[in-house]
Amino acid sequence: MQHFLSTMDWTVEQLDGLLKLAADLKQDPIHENLRGKSIALMFLNPSMRTRTSFDLGMQQLGGIAIVLQPGKDAWGVEFKPGAVMEGEAEEHIAEVAGVLSRYCDLIGLRAFPLFKDWPTDREDAVIRSLAKHATVPVINMETIVHPCQELALMMTLKEHQGEVKNRKFVLTWTWHPRPLNTAVANSALLIASKFGMDVTLLCPEEAYRLDPQFETAASRFAVQSGGSFGATHDIEEAYTDADVVYAKSWGALPFYGQPGEEWELRKNYRHFIVDEKKMALTNNGLFSHCLPLRRNVKATDGVMDADYCVALDEAENRLHVQKAIMMRLLGANL
Ligand code: CP
Repeated sequence: MQHFLSTMDWTVEQLDGLLKLAADLKQDPIHENLRGKSIALMFLNPSMRTRTSFDLGMQQLGGIAIVLQPGKDAWGVEFKPGAVMEGEAEEHIAEVAGVLSRYCDLIGLRAFPLFKDWPTDREDAVIRSLAKHATVPVINMETIVHPCQELALMMTLKEHQGEVKNRKFVLTWTWHPRPLNTAVANSALLIASKFGMDVTLLCPEEAYRLDPQFETAASRFAVQSGGSFGATHDIEEAYTDADVVYAKSWGALPFYGQPGEEWELRKNYRHFIVDEKKMALTNNGLFSHCLPLRRNVKATDGVMDADYCVALDEAENRLHVQKAIMMRLLGANL
């Protein structure tokens, strides 16, 4: 049984097959291939796009989706093996996964890291424990990676640029008042390097480098795909001749769980906002972001409203790629 936990577990050919299926579904969205099928969508954190697109996508394929918010409208869940459950959680993932596997054909989970201890969070143990106990395929709806977002991004780039190999892809850290999850940034490196892009990670200083498991994977994928991977702190160097600027803000990992200390770094980097002047350095480059995005904090109105901004295309493509993922995991074809 195959899960969709990380694109690192899927070959480029498999991912490309998902993108082709998603493109077909975009042309012809309504089907009955998943009639009688269901997906449980467990959200431990808020969502607009992911929740809407999975629910709607399953309905467009003839199935149904059930949204659960453990700790709000469903019992709180304990994920640690061997836990003595004297805290808030009323049931263990072993039973939750077992029960949902009896009812549903797929389970999706959003579980952001806890922002306390990165050596713990970097293991992605919450979704892995769900996958261990589930007897149906599990889909990652964002943990320390966001693989559905990755596919939507790559689908969008291919729609606008055709062949993406050796195009300059810049992942830029951008300003935000709080230290955020690194998931989308990790994911952007993975997918761009897997598809052979020349990837530049732009961040203010070394403390904002991403976890080595993702930077190392990006280097490895770049070698395999004929692309490249490098990092810089020089804004002008990064933006110059970029074909794609992808923005995300994230917290400095050496200060993980210490937002006050992290702020002492972060407060110096408001100028990393994506603006028209920086975008003018690019090779008529595209701009995108996973959304949600704080306007005039992460990117200016001018950037968000420009023709080169494809963030809405990327958000729409979440719907199409997730339908492809659900179909593929359930062995359905068009
Ligand atoms: N990009 C994304 O996952 O959006 P939501 O947090 O709204 O689901």
